[in-house]
Amino acid sequence: MDWIRTWNTFQAYCDLLLRRTRPRAYPLELSLGTGSYCNLRCIMCPREDHEGNRMPFNQPVRTDYFRRLAPYLRRANEVSLYGLGEPFLDRDYFKKVEFIRSFGTEVILSTNGVLMDEERRRDILRTGLRGLGISLDAVTEETYSIIRPPGGFNRIVENLKALVALRNERHSQRPLIALSFAMMRQNLHEVPAFPELVKSIGADEAIIHTSLYMSHAMKERIEPDTELQRKAVVKTIENARKLNVKVTYWNLDPMTYLRSLEYTGAESVPQQAGASYYCHHLWRNAMLQGEGELFPCCYMTNHRVGTLAEGDLRVLRRKPFMAELRQLHFEGRIPGPCRNCPQLIPYNRGQLVREAWSEIRSAWKHPRSRETDNQRGETPVGDAPVAGCSGQDTNSGPVNAL
Ligand SMILES: C[S@@+](CC[C@H](N)C(=O)[O-])C[C@H]1O[C@@H](n2cnc3c(N)ncnc32)[C@H](O)[C@@H]1O
Ligand code: SF4
Ligand code: SF4
Repeated sequence: MDWIRTWNTFQAYCDLLLRRTRPRAYPLELSLGTGSYCNLRCIMCPREDHEGNRMPFNQPVRTDYFRRLAPYLRRANEVSLYGLGEPFLDRDYFKKVEFIRSFGTEVILSTNGVLMDEERRRDILRTGLRGLGISLDAVTEETYSIIRPPGGFNRIVENLKALVALRNERHSQRPLIALSFAMMRQNLHEVPAFPELVKSIGADEAIIHTSLYMSHAMKERIEPDTELQRKAVVKTIENARKLNVKVTYWNLDPMTYLRSLEYTGAESVPQQAGASYYCHHLWRNAMLQGEGELFPCCYMTNHRVGTLAEGDLRVLRRKPFMAELRQLHFEGRIPGPCRNCPQLIPYNRGQLVREAWSEIRSAWKHPRSRETDNQRGETPVGDAPVAGCSGQDTNSGPVNAL
């Protein structure tokens, strides 16, 4: 029984059902960056090519800082523990994971996999991560080296096979391993072969998604032909079905970020007369980068809402910018960046009551103690996709149709 989590989940659903623009609950999910350093220079990555970016760059995140997050970690169901950078460059990464897990909170992460040596593979299994995303974006060394220089594709594939073997040896269901593919002009021809690679590695899921343009120069550099992209997605899904590989497609609107650069509250447009919407990020998630800098969501990273130095996370989440975004969604006047965002959900009270009931019940049954190696397999990972910031939230919401 977990009273604190149950109460917070109840409060979160009250916020939504009562259409509060200034929520009383703490976030049910947290996106926390670790140090924003990287060992690769991917051609689509916002780290170095990001017009108007306000996120911390090349800054460490001390392990001690996580202690300040204890009240939030205690109430959240899940943490996405990565930001703009490579998580495994942080020497204390698994200390942070252990700290979060000590509150019974789930952890998912995304990595480029280059540094996933034997010690890290053991740490991954020992700490009971729920989900591990590996970004590949190619099926050959040749294409990988164009997308993610300086390369190392074959080594990553070997690291992955070794991780799957270790997980199987331990008869563990954790972590759920998802390989991702960000589509661009440079790699489109290789998407249909991706399910085969996922199968040969023994991973659980293939995630294919469109890429966001984080600057106008990036758009020029990576923009694919939309019709070719659509055909490649259809073919990939077909291939995945034949091979019996689970595939998830995130149809992200590539212009979301560039539109957020121009966003002002006045720029919103009615989505559908009389309809009402809400957004997972504004309601249940909080995106904290560096040591306590809050952003509205992972798409609007040109706007820093505030920092924990100013006050409690609940205070920051109630700031006027955030309250206004929620209000616009409830009124069905959708701000430019949100228009085609996969996080945007039609507001349906009946559906929300059903979700509230199921989520409050699982918060009530939540094991308070950490699940480690000794208890592996006791908490099933289920079918929830491994999703971080670029895709959907892990609990609900429709996958965008083709
Ligand atoms: C920024 S990376 C950080 C974690 C880690 N370094 C990695 O590469 O997985 C997180 C995810 O963002 C994705 N990503 C990078 N640039 C993107 C873009 N322009 N549009 C959509 N997703 C992108 C990556 O493929 C990766 O899956
Ligand atoms: S590995 Fe991840 S953080 Fe690093 S450059 Fe590539 S996408 Fe960006
Ligand atoms: S709908 Fe999308 S862009 Fe808008 S606030 Fe939510 S996550 Fe951000």
